[in-house]
Formats: sequence, structure tokens, C-alpha cells
Amino acid sequence: MTLVDPSPGRGASWAAAGMLAPVTEVTYGEQPLLALTLAGSARWPSFAAELEEASGRSPGYVECGTVVVARDADDRAALDDLLAFQRSLGLEAEWLRRRELRGIEPGLAPGVRGGILVAGDHQVDNRALVEALCLAFERAGGTLRRTAVAAVDVARDRVTGVRLSDGSRIAAGAVVLAAGCWTGGLGGLPPDVLPPVRPVKGQLLHLAARGDAAPPATRTIRGLDVYVVTRPDGRVVVGATVEEQGFDTTVTAEAVHDLLRDARDLLPGLGELAFAEAVAGLRPGSPDNAPLIGAAAGIEGLVCATGHHRNGILLAPVTAGAVVDLLLDRDAPDVVAPFSPGRFRAAAPVAAGAR
Ligand code: GLY
Repeated sequence: MTLVDPSPGRGASWAAAGMLAPVTEVTYGEQPLLALTLAGSARWPSFAAELEEASGRSPGYVECGTVVVARDADDRAALDDLLAFQRSLGLEAEWLRRRELRGIEPGLAPGVRGGILVAGDHQVDNRALVEALCLAFERAGGTLRRTAVAAVDVARDRVTGVRLSDGSRIAAGAVVLAAGCWTGGLGGLPPDVLPPVRPVKGQLLHLAARGDAAPPATRTIRGLDVYVVTRPDGRVVVGATVEEQGFDTTVTAEAVHDLLRDARDLLPGLGELAFAEAVAGLRPGSPDNAPLIGAAAGIEGLVCATGHHRNGILLAPVTAGAVVDLLLDRDAPDVVAPFSPGRFRAAAPVAAGAR
């Protein structure tokens, strides 16, 4: 098996924060995605253990829980609605008053109005994760080719391999399209088969502990516009913007300012940490913000695993499982059926002369 990637693990996965948060990230109108994100979350403990065994490296999976905090009356009203929505879906979430909240997270700003505790939303160290995945892949006999795929070769509606940007070719009876936001630009495929994914920019900050100071929080702390993920060793990730800026990955002064301001409003002690890094990445967004997982209609041997938008890390185990099922000619789990790439096929524009 060959993985072709110019920089494995350095795309959206590198710029993520590693939140595993199906309940706190549940969004109105995206309920069909919830069954999948919950399945992803349920798979994480065993996936992390299997990966550590296979790679000899911990991916940094931590069952930390998450709190969504209200800073003012407007936030409070929004969180009342969110809690009602979460409960209407049967999700586990509870309201904590200011004193209860500051009892479990003393680093929170004194002015917080309370918040929603979601004990089941956790985190993984996304950068440790991709390092472990690359190691496990190579240990299992996989080959990493650090170059880009220029085009997928298709003959008589069947995949025959890929052409690489250096001009070489790899013959293959099956190809998995998993090039993140670049998947939509791959050559060789008819427009109605090419996954309709676009880049959705996210900017994040990395802060680092100084001296023996206690970490700012033990749980992931979220506001309505910001989240703060604290690793057990005191490193902190603050995210994230959601921007439609094409393939631009500029880190902007405004985003750095706004993320720090919003994060410090929740956890004032963050200002004492060392500034380590600001990073911008590109999520692969689809027209309905849900992933495309499954066999590509019309081309035998072509499987899609892309368009995961805000949920790539969370959905990694369930996506990998489904892709393996499909490659081995088994049925993928029912939970991925609604996310078949074919759902966009009728709507996709077909260029004149294509096919
Ligand atoms: N899931 C968090 C993000 O995409 O920013």
C-alpha cells in the first residue's frame, strides 16, 4: 500500500486542536451528522490503544471533558438554547452555575455566568496522532511517497492508478481520494465524480507553559467564538477562525489578536504563558459540511474519504474503518451510508464535453 502526500500529516490535521467533541460541536440543521460523530467518538479509546500498540507512540488521547462557558447574558441565552437542543437529542450535558464551574476550573474568569459541562467530549494530541499514524503505517509495510498526486488514471470506468507530480505513475486497482481540501482539484476524474470540497481556513495559536505554573485548565474550555484545549503537559491550543478565503494560509494580526482576546476573557491566566506558534490550516468543507465517505459512483475501485470539515480528527477511526471495509469488499457500517459521495452527484455541474 502506498500513501502519496507531499507532507504527510502536515495539512489540516497538523493545524487542528484535536478536540473530540460531538456534543459541544453539535449544530442546528446538522443532526444527521451526529450519529456519525458519536460513532467516531465511541471508537476513539480502542483506536488510540491500537495505534499506540502498532506505532510504539502514544497519540495523546485524553478523557478530559469539556465546558462551554457563558461570559454574559447574551452567551447565557445562547447556551440555554444549546443545552435544550443537546437534551432534545438525548445527549449528556449539564448546566453548572458560576460557583460550581469555578470549583472545577479555578482558572476561569470570575465574571463567567455558568456553563455547560459535557463530560464525554475529549481530546487527542493531533500532532502526536499523525506522527504515530505515519510510524504505524510504515511498520505495517506501507510506503510513504512524499510527492503530490497530479491525476487519477481511469480506463473504461475503472481506476488503474495515479500519476504523480514528478511524472511517475503508480499502478493500482484501488485508489482512496483523501487529499483534504485539494481533493476537488485532482486531475483525471470527470467533474461529477470529483468531490466538491473547498478550503475553509482556520487560524490557531499555540501557547506553552512557563516554569512550574499550573495549566490554565484541566478540561477543554469553550466560549461561543473560541476554544482552549490544554494538554496534560501544560501546552495550550487556542482556536479557531472559520474563514472562506480560498487557499490562503496567511496568519493575520487580527486573528491572533481576536483569538487571544477571546481566550483571555475566559481564562485570564493565558496571558502569562509563552507564545509558541500561530498556524493557519485549510479544512476540507463540502456543500453540506459533512464528509464524503464511500465508493465513488461510476468509477470502480475509487473510494472517497474527504470533506470532513471541522471533524477530521474525530472521524478518523470511523472513516478508516469504513474505507478498509470497502477496500476488502465488505459493507461499510450503516452509520456512514448517509455520507456517500453520490449524494452530490446530481447537483454537480458537468463541464461541456466531459465524459
Ligand atoms: N473542530 C474544530 C475546528 O474545526 O476548529
